[in-house]
Amino acid sequence: MRTLISTTFFSALAVLSACESASSDPSWSEHVRPIVNANCLRCHSSPSIGGAPSDFRLDVYEDTRKLDGRIIRGAATMAHFVAARAGVQGSMPPDFERTPWERDTFANWYEASKLGQLPKLGQRPNNALPTATLLSTLEDADKENVELEVEISDSDGDLVSGQLLVGTRVVADDLQSGRNQVSFSPASFASEGHDLIVRISDDYDSTDVNIGTLRVVHADNNIAPTFTLDTQVRDRLYSDLQSPVSLQLTVSDADGDTTLVRVIAVRGDTEIVLAEDVPPDAQGVATLSLDTTTIPAGNNWHLRVIVTDFKGLETTLETGRFVVSHSTTALRFSDVQSIFVASCRSCHPRIGIRNMNHNFEEHADNGEILGVNSLRGLIYRRVVQERNMPPGSAKTLADEWRAITDEERNTLSEYLLGGSPN
Ligand code: HEC
Ligand code: HEC
Repeated sequence: MRTLISTTFFSALAVLSACESASSDPSWSEHVRPIVNANCLRCHSSPSIGGAPSDFRLDVYEDTRKLDGRIIRGAATMAHFVAARAGVQGSMPPDFERTPWERDTFANWYEASKLGQLPKLGQRPNNALPTATLLSTLEDADKENVELEVEISDSDGDLVSGQLLVGTRVVADDLQSGRNQVSFSPASFASEGHDLIVRISDDYDSTDVNIGTLRVVHADNNIAPTFTLDTQVRDRLYSDLQSPVSLQLTVSDADGDTTLVRVIAVRGDTEIVLAEDVPPDAQGVATLSLDTTTIPAGNNWHLRVIVTDFKGLETTLETGRFVVSHSTTALRFSDVQSIFVASCRSCHPRIGIRNMNHNFEEHADNGEILGVNSLRGLIYRRVVQERNMPPGSAKTLADEWRAITDEERNTLSEYLLGGSPN
């Protein structure tokens, strides 16, 4: 009897798996997302856990941008790695095999993106919009932090991600389905009412929900200046060849105070003042010329940018990391171009894919397509520091690309640190 039951059971399974053949044109909504939700999100959402990398998340299709300017890649940009790790190599999730059907689904989904497009999102007829509700009572805000609780839900169960804006400025960048605790400083907002907007997306639709008006009241009426950095600093590689470098910021002060800008290069306890007491022009634009030759060579530098108003209120921003080099090199672009061709061409350039508008086979930019010279800091980080480009530890996805040798990595390092001359 026992044998009979188990035989029936296994032949039923066999029939089931025989019928299961993966879609040749899978979409995120219909095929990929359900597999990812069930198998990957316990480690790869936001924030990632279990030692999983924090620079991508698989709970959303699109890339998202953090307040500090970092791009967190979504499932669409990561499709290739998803196919490699959970498909061909079978090393994700750690310790669990994927079924052939799941592996094929990932592989087929990535396949479409090889044509320089994002892999398919898919349709969701009658998709319900996500909703947001403010659970806290809104009180007048002064200089103390504002703390709010916002509940986000989606009646058809999609995962939701989003941001909270005060007027047009983002103050929280990581809202998700469920209850969210948000805290931000109202110090730099003018004394008046501001709309609180929750901007959320469930991958298929996005919506702005106005959850109330925040009244800001500054007792002494002085409001700290605000500014945005117009020049990207993260992943820059500053070498003597390019010094001084230009750094531009746009400053505003809601109560019209005059402001001054200070810039310090910081690494650990070392601080090197690069610009002091520079006033922005009448439009609020400050263009600084920074002498990077005074910064010792090395990784992990960042800039601290401080804007002060004359009443002494200041706003500080710490930029992402950059590299400084004082070496010069005899190498020219023509000496390293062949490495880019042999080891990067199979995946780069992938023009048309967000944030991948670059071409490592050219030295100079071509319109929006960035060449090696502009991207040397980013290339240095990925190829020399983190050693995860090309995705080399991957031993399978056979012959799709050629691994890079240590000698080639050193050559690239020397060329990039030397200021990537043409
Ligand atoms: C138990 C936690 C856990 C689960 C579940 C998990 N991962 Fe991972 N994942 C990790 C860790 C840890 C790393 C970093 C170490 C590594 O690359 O092996 C990682 C790395 C990755 C990478 C980065 C590859 C690269 O080379 O940059 C991808 C892609 C990935 N996982 C995809 C998936 C997919 C797809 C699933 C579901 C099918 C999944 N993971 C499930 C923990 C997990
Ligand atoms: C097998 C495919 C593949 C190969 C080969 C490959 N890359 Fe990549 N690369 C990717 C993918 C996919 C991403 C986006 C995901 C990520 O950032 O990890 C990426 C991202 C990058 C980025 C970051 C781009 C950005 O805007 O953040 C750099 C820099 C990079 N690669 C450099 C290289 C270089 C240099 C080589 C050759 C020496 C190379 N890659 C080879 C697939 C590849």
